[in-house]
Amino acid sequence: MARPEPQNVRRLACIGAGLMGGGWVVHFLAQGLEVHAQDPDPGAGEKLKRLLERAWPRMVDLGLAKGASPDRWKITTKVAEACEGAEFVQESAPERVDLKTKLLAEIDRATDPDIVISSSTSGFVMSAMHGECVRPQRLVVGHPFNPPYLMPLVEVVGGSKTEAWAVDWACKFYDHFGHYAIKMDVEVPGFIANRLQQAIWHEALHMIVNGQATVEQIDAAQRQGPGLRWAMMGQFVLMHLAGGEGGIDHAMDHFGGPPESKYAYLKPPPMTPDLDRKIREGTKKIVGKKSYAELVRDRDKLLVAFRKAIAASEWDKR
Ligand SMILES: NC(=O)c1ccc[n+]([C@@H]2O[C@H](COP(=O)([O-])OP(=O)(O)OC[C@H]3O[C@@H](n4cnc5c(N)ncnc54)[C@H](O)[C@@H]3O)[C@@H](O)[C@H]2O)c1
Repeated sequence: MARPEPQNVRRLACIGAGLMGGGWVVHFLAQGLEVHAQDPDPGAGEKLKRLLERAWPRMVDLGLAKGASPDRWKITTKVAEACEGAEFVQESAPERVDLKTKLLAEIDRATDPDIVISSSTSGFVMSAMHGECVRPQRLVVGHPFNPPYLMPLVEVVGGSKTEAWAVDWACKFYDHFGHYAIKMDVEVPGFIANRLQQAIWHEALHMIVNGQATVEQIDAAQRQGPGLRWAMMGQFVLMHLAGGEGGIDHAMDHFGGPPESKYAYLKPPPMTPDLDRKIREGTKKIVGKKSYAELVRDRDKLLVAFRKAIAASEWDKR
């Protein structure tokens, strides 16, 4: 089977159907595609059904593509069965490099040679995982964000043996089917967004360890402060606005300062039992009695509202 143009894909495989794999299934179904999922856990199908039931109303809110149906999927425990006839494969198995190396090789053997295979890995580079593949030129990382049926970003990057066409194909595919692909030129563990998140996580840990802020205060500071702006503008445009009419030039003169800024720690503090306890207890206090399903519902409703608000504005048109 020849590789279809990205926009002509009709059937694909999702290998690993947990939180992310299941989320991908929801997204692709809402885009009108047919999905063959695979997971070695015999209970994965039931979990996926529950995930779909929770998420589908939000897909309806967001708008379904032609032909979208919550029923156009099936699941198997066998990789080869799910990959048969697949025009694209999204791998979302556990974050273990040994497991992914073996699994990607199995997917490589089970798929038509020109089909693009993408890994959801949060942090491994493809060069560390493609070692046992016969045709590594078509393997890319397509790093999603939770939940992938509502979060547009996918960071796409190839490994040392990936050919440029595969990265381009994957970006076009993700963009066509409702995501926002960022093509990265360089493989870097953690890609872009997780590096940023990691830096914030480390700073938060330092504040807790030093008794400067609690879990609740830090979460509130993000939500009521910069988090509201981050849905719309990134660090640099915000800095431009922070410079007033002088823009980024004034901001750099004013705030740019020496890189060894006085409030950046960056290296994480040790995860002591005390810090671990504070994180768990503080987080549970914020969450209160809300169940997982209620939290997902609240988050997803707001994500749909944010996405619609952003789409209705003149901002961020590609
Ligand atoms: N959870 C997140 O927020 C998030 C975000 C971005 C990327 N990711 C990445 O997505 C991938 C999956 O993470 P997750 O959060 O969905 O984990 P998860 O534990 O929810 O799901 C993993 C699934 O893989 C299945 N599995 C186990 N062994 C397998 C195998 N050999 N072959 C196929 N499937 C197998 C498990 O049964 C499980 O259903 C990881 O690489 C992770 O780093 C996760």
